[in-house]
Amino acid sequence: MIIPFIDLKTQYQALEPKIQAHINAVLEHGQYIMGPEVEALEAKLAAFTGSKHCITCASGTEALLMSIMALGVGPGDEVITTPFTFVAAAEAITLLRAKPVFVDVESDTGNINAELIEAAITPRTKAIIPVSLYGQPADMDAINATAAKYGNLPVIEDAAQSFGASYKGRKSCNLSTIGCTSFFPSKPLGCYGDGGAVFTSDDVLANAIREIRVHGQSQRYVHTRVGVGGRMDTLQCAIVLAKLERFEWELYQRSVIGQRYNQLFDEAGISRIQQRSDRTSVYAQYTVIVPDREALQERLSGAGIPTAVHYPVNLNEQPAYKKMCCPDCTPEAQRLTKRVMSLPMGADLDVRIQNKIIKCLLAG
Ligand SMILES: Cc1ncc(COP(=O)(O)O)c(C=O)c1O
Repeated sequence: MIIPFIDLKTQYQALEPKIQAHINAVLEHGQYIMGPEVEALEAKLAAFTGSKHCITCASGTEALLMSIMALGVGPGDEVITTPFTFVAAAEAITLLRAKPVFVDVESDTGNINAELIEAAITPRTKAIIPVSLYGQPADMDAINATAAKYGNLPVIEDAAQSFGASYKGRKSCNLSTIGCTSFFPSKPLGCYGDGGAVFTSDDVLANAIREIRVHGQSQRYVHTRVGVGGRMDTLQCAIVLAKLERFEWELYQRSVIGQRYNQLFDEAGISRIQQRSDRTSVYAQYTVIVPDREALQERLSGAGIPTAVHYPVNLNEQPAYKKMCCPDCTPEAQRLTKRVMSLPMGADLDVRIQNKIIKCLLAG
């Protein structure tokens, strides 16, 4: 039996009639760009998170780029973020000729260490971008409090992995000035291509981001500001709308499966990413922290069990970024990159497959 790292097929089979009906409706009305499903999805997602505005867009990366464009980040500015994540935030900052300032992470969650942020703030700091890694929100209250102390610096939560998670009873994406998520197919709420969304309750920012999404247009062919081609296709919005039907159940399943991994690994003394008691995780990845990663990956692969490493190289050690920052200033991130290993995870992970994974991991 081939074990998928993320099983999208079972989900599709469960939702097939609904997804097909949604796709057919778009093919019938033919409004492939900014069709009615775009607004319908935005209204549903805004209500789900509790944010006043949801602006869908081309990807999670585009969501981050449009957000910092709306904040006016530009040459010479600094934006604080984490090195232990996917490249998107650092990339968006750098594209605007600003500088990513990398702050180290917590050793047990992999999320940015909120206590270290204050020391990284300078007069050039324009924003803070924490990432809610592996599906668990970063310590957003502590980060917001530091931001408030320095002239209300805007905070953008990179919630590409954490849509559906909550923090002290509030939903990820609605925990700071702006929240950005991704609908990349393997994300907890995915489409069948690229997609993303920006969330905010600030009317001025929402309006700016809506304009930036369509080439900075305030009206047709009136380009009030510089923008991008950043819309999400109507078809992809229709697919996400169909997937919302099962999303709450999937969140519940993810939590049951994640907690089962937790319990069994704790009993066996296997180190893992920890979850804080004041927030929930959507377990976008299920990640253990192991000293002998390569040997374990080989053993699991031999048993037909795929694994992945999120992330093998910190961003401040990457060729494109290391020139502008200090690669050795984030020792916890460096330690984690050498040890983290993600296991198959998802709402449709069968308990027998989970047992096989656990048994194989513990066999050594
Ligand atoms: C933390 C994080 N931020 C941003 C992104 C970018 O999302 P997208 O692939 O939709 O551009 C990803 C995607 O992997 C991610 O994991």
